[in-house]
Amino acid sequence: MIYILDTADIDAIKHCNEYYPLAGVTTNPSIIAKEKSDFWTLIGEIRSIIGPDKMLHVQATEETAEKIVEEAKMLRDRVGGDFYLKIPICEEGLKATMMLKKLGIKVTMTAIITPAQALIAARAGADFVAPYVNRLDSILSDGTRVVTEIVEEFKLHGIEARVLAASFKNAEQVHKCALAGCHSATVTADIMKSLISHPMTDAAIDGFKKDWHEVYGEQKILDF
Ligand code: E4P
Repeated sequence: MIYILDTADIDAIKHCNEYYPLAGVTTNPSIIAKEKSDFWTLIGEIRSIIGPDKMLHVQATEETAEKIVEEAKMLRDRVGGDFYLKIPICEEGLKATMMLKKLGIKVTMTAIITPAQALIAARAGADFVAPYVNRLDSILSDGTRVVTEIVEEFKLHGIEARVLAASFKNAEQVHKCALAGCHSATVTADIMKSLISHPMTDAAIDGFKKDWHEVYGEQKILDF
């Protein structure tokens, strides 16, 4: 499992890029709009924080294949580095994906709700498919089951596209996707933190500090 950060919040990106093994950043129009910033300044800042080697996924805003391709070329040239165009699954999106494949522009097909959508997106040439785990869970469906089925179908059919599970609201959903063999997960900064947080870990760290302090006081190994 590789971890991607699902935000355009500059402080969160700076923090997580410094402290976590981030493989990149994903955005969508809602995530970008939330920042209420100039689009190109924001995208440029994200790219400069994560550098050219980490993935940056930016979603199309156009709605016809030809315009999506035009947008993709502009984004690829201006975003630079390891760039992926996110396109929600629909007929125009599939057509655009097949056109982008020929141009060598990488695609993440997003808003995936069913394994059938994922299979067709992959056949059209998507590099990643992004199923929405929590949006499924929140309608009494089973998001991690959908992710598991996509992973299994891709194995069964020898498909190379990777599964980028998205839309998480808790660490357990991420854990279940990891168990299913899902390639990657895109998570908020809060979920990233929750993946390493545990009260027993905090208690263990406090115990080490207390035992050490009783014998050596404020001195640390560097002081010896
Ligand atoms: C991924 O990039 C998706 O757009 C995102 O994870 C959706 O998350 P949400 O369901 O919390 O909006």
